[in-house]
Amino acid sequence: MERPLITGTTSLVGLIGWPVSHSLSPVMHNAGFAATGCDFAYVPLPVRPEHVEQALKGLVALNFKGANVTIPHKQAVMRYMDELSDAARFTGAVNTIHIQDGRFCGYNSDAIGFLHSLLEADFDPKGMRVAVLGAGGAARAVVYALARHGVHSVIVLNRTAERAAFLVDDLAVAFPNSALSFEPLTPAALAGLDGRVDLVVNTTSVGMYPNVNASPWPEDVPIPANAAFCDLVYNPLDTVFLQQARAAGARTIDGLGMLVHQGAFAFEKWTGCPAPVEVMRQACLKILTGG
Ligand SMILES: NC(=O)c1ccc[n+]([C@@H]2O[C@H](COP(=O)([O-])OP(=O)(O)OC[C@H]3O[C@@H](n4cnc5c(N)ncnc54)[C@H](OP(=O)(O)O)[C@@H]3O)[C@@H](O)[C@H]2O)c1
Repeated sequence: MERPLITGTTSLVGLIGWPVSHSLSPVMHNAGFAATGCDFAYVPLPVRPEHVEQALKGLVALNFKGANVTIPHKQAVMRYMDELSDAARFTGAVNTIHIQDGRFCGYNSDAIGFLHSLLEADFDPKGMRVAVLGAGGAARAVVYALARHGVHSVIVLNRTAERAAFLVDDLAVAFPNSALSFEPLTPAALAGLDGRVDLVVNTTSVGMYPNVNASPWPEDVPIPANAAFCDLVYNPLDTVFLQQARAAGARTIDGLGMLVHQGAFAFEKWTGCPAPVEVMRQACLKILTGG
């Protein structure tokens, strides 16, 4: 696809983080803008931690329409937001900013991105029993999305059990209709999930490039019969975790759908146009598969 011209009328959005060079977001969004004819351009904005406040003021001064926010600034930008979405408040992190009349609206699009990735895979978690491996930033968005959507229960399993306890404590009061609990991420706890869960979600970074041979699920622990397996890791797309599940006959959902749908949410906030989800997915796939 040809790169559209940036002209005097082009609206700008970008990605604030440190570093930002690894991100697929510029390619994904610029492909979307080109496909829809939206006169927008997306630029990487490497911002050192000590410059977050100036960078946000700069976005307003330069008439940016918004930005994505990545590691390590997702928490630091929160105090500068004029408004926060429920998802941003519950997850304690902002990854999408929409700027209107100089005011910052902060969102966390990982939650809706995750839910849409399940729904487009024809897996509706409403009423289901879910195990979430990990208790970091992505896990918060996943547990929030699941509880808000009305799952029956979520067990959060994490290497550092206290972190899982904090996550569960934070969300349990707000979502009394879903039973939230935590366990340590041990082989015994994983073995004990058999027959107790319908979906297992890996939100740990285990298996992510360059440690592509690692999995949070030990080889000698049987995969729970009849559960579906979802991995948030999208690089590589086909993780060892998903390969283990597939080999045991389980259904699998990779992390690309979440990436694309969280991007689609931001695209629609900034442009007001429906996001070309397939175009954005293909743009990411091309990079991830070296095509
Ligand atoms: N598909 C998407 O759109 C999408 C969106 C967001 C994130 N992600 C992916 O999700 C993953 C996690 O991101 P995050 O922002 O939540 O990171 P994070 O906040 O740093 O959390 C990392 C999590 O992984 C666990 N972990 C790390 N190394 C481990 C190990 N060796 N054994 C067991 N557990 C380990 C951590 O456990 P401790 O608490 O014990 O350290 C923690 O629960 C990353 O791979 C990221 O790329 C994907």
